[in-house]
Amino acid sequence: MPEKKNTYRRMVIATVALALFCGVSYALLSATSTMSFCSSACHEMEEQAAELRFSSHARDKDGGDISCVRCHIPAGFGPRYMAVKTYSGLKDLYMHLFRSGTPLLRADMQKTARRFIDDGNCLLCHDDLHRNARGEQAITDLGRIAHDAYLGKNGQASSKCVGCHINIAHLPEFDRRLEVNRFFAERMKNNEEARDAK
Ligand code: HEC
Ligand code: HEC
Ligand code: HEC
Repeated sequence: MPEKKNTYRRMVIATVALALFCGVSYALLSATSTMSFCSSACHEMEEQAAELRFSSHARDKDGGDISCVRCHIPAGFGPRYMAVKTYSGLKDLYMHLFRSGTPLLRADMQKTARRFIDDGNCLLCHDDLHRNARGEQAITDLGRIAHDAYLGKNGQASSKCVGCHINIAHLPEFDRRLEVNRFFAERMKNNEEARDAK
C-alpha cells in the first residue's frame, strides 16, 4: 500500500507545482504586458510611446488606450504568443540591463518589428477590409484594389498589413518627410512646438 500512497502524494505535489508555475507565469506575462510597463519601466521606449499618443492608434473605438501588446505580441496564449513574448521580453531586458545608453537604430528596429507583427492582431480591430478604419463607410477605391489583392482576389497578395501601412503608430524623424505621414507629422510638430513654448 505505501507504494500507492507515494504515487498519490507525488501526483498531488506535481499538480500543485504545475498550478503554481502556470499562475506565476500568467501573472508575469500579464504584468509585463501593461502599457505602463512597456512605456515607463523602460525609458528606451518613451519616444515610441509619446509618438503613439499622437497617432491614429492612440485610442480604440471605445476611447480606451491602445496598448503596445495589441500590435506587437500575437493575440491569444498560443505557441506564437509564447515565442514572441519570450524572445522580445528577453531581448528588451538584455538591452535594458547591458546596452542601456547605446543609441537605438530605429530604421533597423522598424524592419524587425514589422516581421513580428501579425496580421491577425490588426484584423481583431479591422475585421472588414472593405470598410474604412472606423468601420462606418466603404473603403476608398484605392483601398479596395489593394485589399482585394491582399485577400488574393486578383491573385497577387504579396505583403502583410504593415508592409503597406507603415508608421501607423510611431513616427521617427526620418519618416516625417513622407507624404502619407503628413497629418501624423503635423500633430507631432504642433505638440513639439507647444512643449517648447512652455
Ligand atoms: C497600432 C499598432 C501599434 C501599437 C499600439 C504600438 N506599435 Fe510599435 N510598431 C508598430 C508597427 C506597425 C511598427 C513597425 C514600424 C512602423 O511602421 O512604424 C512598430 C515599431 C515599433 C518599434 C521599432 C521601430 C521604431 O519606431 O522605433 C518599437 C521600439 C515599438 N514599435 C515600440 C512600441 C511601444 C513601446 C508601444 C507602446 C507604447 C508600441 N510600439 C505600440 C505598431 C504598433
Ligand atoms: C485595438 C484596436 C486596433 C488595432 C489592434 C489596430 N488598429 Fe488600426 N485603427 C484602430 C482605430 C480605432 C482606428 C481609427 C482611428 C480614427 O480614425 O479615429 C484605426 C486606424 C487605422 C488606419 C487608418 C489611419 C492611418 O493611420 O492610416 C489604418 C491604415 C490602420 N488602422 C491599420 C492597422 C494595422 C495595419 C494594424 C495592425 C498592425 C492595426 N491597424 C491595428 C484600431 C486598431
Ligand atoms: C498592398 C497594400 C496593402 C495591404 C497589404 C493592406 N492594405 Fe490596408 N490599405 C491599403 C490602401 C492603399 C488603402 C487606402 C488608403 C487611402 O485611400 O488613403 C488601405 C486602407 C486601409 C484602411 C482604411 C484606412 C482609413 O483611412 O480609413 C484600413 C483600416 C486598412 N487598410 C487596414 C489594413 C489591414 C488590417 C491590413 C492587413 C489585414 C491591410 N490593410 C493590408 C493598402 C494595403
